[in-house]
Amino acid sequence: MRKMLIAGNWKMNKTIPESLELIHALMRKLDSSCPAEVVLIPPFTSLFSVAETLRGSSIQLGAQNLSHLTEGAVTGEISGTQLISVGCRYVLVGHSERRNLFQEDDAVINQKLKTALSEGLHPIFCVGESWQEREAGKTKGVIGNQLKRGLDGLTPMEMGKMTIAYEPVWAIGTGKTAQPEQVQEIHEAIRSELSSQYEPETAKATRIIYGGSVTPDNSPSLMSQPDVDGALVGGASLDAGSFYAIISAIK
Ligand code: 13P
Repeated sequence: MRKMLIAGNWKMNKTIPESLELIHALMRKLDSSCPAEVVLIPPFTSLFSVAETLRGSSIQLGAQNLSHLTEGAVTGEISGTQLISVGCRYVLVGHSERRNLFQEDDAVINQKLKTALSEGLHPIFCVGESWQEREAGKTKGVIGNQLKRGLDGLTPMEMGKMTIAYEPVWAIGTGKTAQPEQVQEIHEAIRSELSSQYEPETAKATRIIYGGSVTPDNSPSLMSQPDVDGALVGGASLDAGSFYAIISAIK
């Protein structure tokens, strides 16, 4: 049985005081009966303060990025071990903003996934097609390649720590959400790709979450699709009320 996961990716938003204001507001609303796993992914600068405030709560902490290297003279980078030491359980890898703005290719993404896993983190591995790729009928091929290259060399045991996030690039921050049936179709295709790379049991056990303009209005129909195991929320996670509304739609 896959537990639903709702993650809020704050991207490059929120100072430390703003971060604390947001999580205090969220913690006032959330109670222990929440059936979903909730993950907050603030900017690096807020991780320590957020971790301190979350201590003892069931909300988990994640980071937006990690270095593919483990330590040393790598100015400006942050290692998986450092993320673990600040209290992170999760880390985003392969987000389209990293792929497009920072030229992260499948090889470096594969390296980051391996480093994250060997350092004890649970990666949330993002895949997704551009609008041009969708229009050209290449969606499943593009995502299949991202999965093959990104997961190359990872064992079924390591897959036990992996969450896949399907984020169509054209739906991110645009207000254009993919239709629930379109999302289900791609999640099913991702599961079938995982089945061919691993055993069907591994594919069945892997969480596949959706991201791209998720809001309180569209989340109930998206989250009720059989292969949708949660959401990776950007803009709507910056407001405690709307993030809570998305979480509380999970039954
Ligand atoms: P939006 O919810 O703002 O579209 O962002 C999605 C996203 O990129 C989450 O990682």
